[in-house]
Amino acid sequence: MEFLRDRGFAYAIGALEFADNIRLNVIDRLLPYYSPHHIKKNADSLEGKLCIVTGGNAGIGRAFAEAAVQHGAHVILACRSMERGTRAAQAIQQQHPAKQAHVEVRELDLASLRSVRNFAQQFKGEHRHLDILVCNAGIMAPPERGLTPDGFEQQFQVNYLSHWLLAHELLRQDSSPSSSHRRAESPTLAEPRRLIFLSSMTHRAGHLDFSNLQLERQYTGFKGYANSKLATLLAAQEWQRRFRSSRSARHDIAVAVHPGLVDTELARGWLTGSDVTGNLLQPIVAPIARILAPWLLISPRRAVDQLMYATTGPASKVAGAYIAHGKW
Ligand SMILES: NC(=O)c1ccc[n+]([C@@H]2O[C@H](COP(=O)([O-])OP(=O)(O)OC[C@H]3O[C@@H](n4cnc5c(N)ncnc54)[C@H](OP(=O)(O)O)[C@@H]3O)[C@@H](O)[C@H]2O)c1
Repeated sequence: MEFLRDRGFAYAIGALEFADNIRLNVIDRLLPYYSPHHIKKNADSLEGKLCIVTGGNAGIGRAFAEAAVQHGAHVILACRSMERGTRAAQAIQQQHPAKQAHVEVRELDLASLRSVRNFAQQFKGEHRHLDILVCNAGIMAPPERGLTPDGFEQQFQVNYLSHWLLAHELLRQDSSPSSSHRRAESPTLAEPRRLIFLSSMTHRAGHLDFSNLQLERQYTGFKGYANSKLATLLAAQEWQRRFRSSRSARHDIAVAVHPGLVDTELARGWLTGSDVTGNLLQPIVAPIARILAPWLLISPRRAVDQLMYATTGPASKVAGAYIAHGKW
């Protein structure tokens, strides 16, 4: 019963999404050059923008970083491993040799609030105007409850809390002379910033019980993940509310995105792990799930469509929105 209460609705929507993914994967394989119209229409709209992507070395973050570079942005990959970050940056540079200088790698470990503050302080010291912050990095459903060095349940901190702090430090303290000048002179002409949070349809299974926020009691990996994604969605809405009521930031935009069920380490790990099937069935179900994954999950390239829309879509449609399943 508890299993159904926790996950029933999210699993039902997930099943529908798997079915739709099979349809999309068939289209992708038959029509490989198909690309949704809004990407083509906005192909140049990131020219000159500065974008930070947390977890930009893998999965959705990596695919988005590459698309952003391709469309003219300067991208900082904020990664917990400099080695993995550098490898990803080199791969993007090889794909786009004319844009070698458009990718940077910085160290950011979201499991450490100190690392978040260090990252923000370094960036702030450079007095550059940040246009887009993509709060993407995440972990999903570790079977055992683990704490970060700061003492928080790890999904709560990595997926939600550290991203909140990062946004707070970077946006509050955007003191670049060009930015403050533009904002002071004319808030309507200032380049509005976009704050994008990767949420998930699993937020529907979330339940934020403030007497058990760190899940000291009745921990399951999925519960922790769903709660962190609900908190992330609420964070986007709270940021939008704060932007609207601020004089200098009233044109800034916060938005939450469910990228789809995407073929990445995170989704594959969960699909083939014991969290879905239980320990007994896992050895049988995991190999089947591994074979089916490329059909049940969409490619990271396709997931970028949703993020690109959050980044470049019209403010009137995107501000404060939850973008999911191609709808906003
Ligand atoms: N895939 C899906 O179906 C799906 C669906 C809904 C929402 N999402 C969300 O989309 C986002 C990206 O997920 P993904 O599927 O692309 O997963 P992924 O391929 O596993 O990538 C996750 C990224 O987060 C980074 N990361 C993990 N812990 C970190 C930490 N402590 N500090 C800094 N970076 C950290 C990872 O770095 P390392 O490479 O060093 O591990 C990696 O770069 C997540 O927020 C996820 O919840 C995914």
